[in-house]
Amino acid sequence: MKKVLKITSSVFNAGTETGVSTQLSNGLLAGLRELANETGVQLDVVERDLALTAIPHLDPAWIQALTTQKQERTAEQVAMVQFSDTLIAEVQAADILLIAAPMYNFTVPSTLKAWIDHIARAGVTFKYTEYGPVGLLENKKVFLIVTSGGQHEEGVTDFVRPYLKTALGLLGLKDIEIISASGLNLGAGPRANALLEAEQATAAVLAGAAGLFADNESAEQLQGGAA
Ligand SMILES: Cc1cc2nc3c(=O)[nH]c(=O)nc-3n(C[C@H](O)[C@H](O)[C@H](O)COP(=O)(O)O)c2cc1C
Repeated sequence: MKKVLKITSSVFNAGTETGVSTQLSNGLLAGLRELANETGVQLDVVERDLALTAIPHLDPAWIQALTTQKQERTAEQVAMVQFSDTLIAEVQAADILLIAAPMYNFTVPSTLKAWIDHIARAGVTFKYTEYGPVGLLENKKVFLIVTSGGQHEEGVTDFVRPYLKTALGLLGLKDIEIISASGLNLGAGPRANALLEAEQATAAVLAGAAGLFADNESAEQLQGGAA
């Protein structure tokens, strides 16, 4: 079995056209489901739409709750910490993360930043050492889907890719592949090109992703052989 955590954050949703990053992440997930089916691997998927389920910003009440001894927390504080713990547990459990990140005002949506604030917890998802911080989330594959109205890819105005690679890297999430759709609002031609390129990138990513399930298959066969 492989576990997938899919995070979407586009504000384009119910009542409007579904966000491009959401559409692309749906396409990638469908491809992963097919691969899993072909290899006889069960895919367990958790989906979180950060635009629909509010992720509270860290605030004084939250840090107070986290730093209060477990047995001394009020019911409200217990609930606050539990919410963060649930987000962390979802990441810890996942073998594969799909993170859809549209560019809003040059960076990720604030909801996605808030999610990262919750899952980056010292002593749990990374630790400080005398040599610097060390990530504690290991052996996970990350697919980032990055969309933008203009062209910014890895340039000085791109605060999406460098930020996500740095923030996720802190947690040990370093095996990252990026699917981009850039220039979506530059006119019909550039938009069509961007969507085509994203489709081709998705196909390339899926061609390489077969290995994610092949390992699982041979492990299951080995277990079967030993039984
Ligand atoms: C609030 C908001 C801010 C945006 N800021 C930027 C920006 O700074 N740079 C850019 O290239 N596009 C920007 N865009 C355009 C989006 O990146 C583009 O519409 C993209 O398709 C969004 O992905 P989505 O459809 O998955 O939401 C912005 C769009 C919105 C709604």
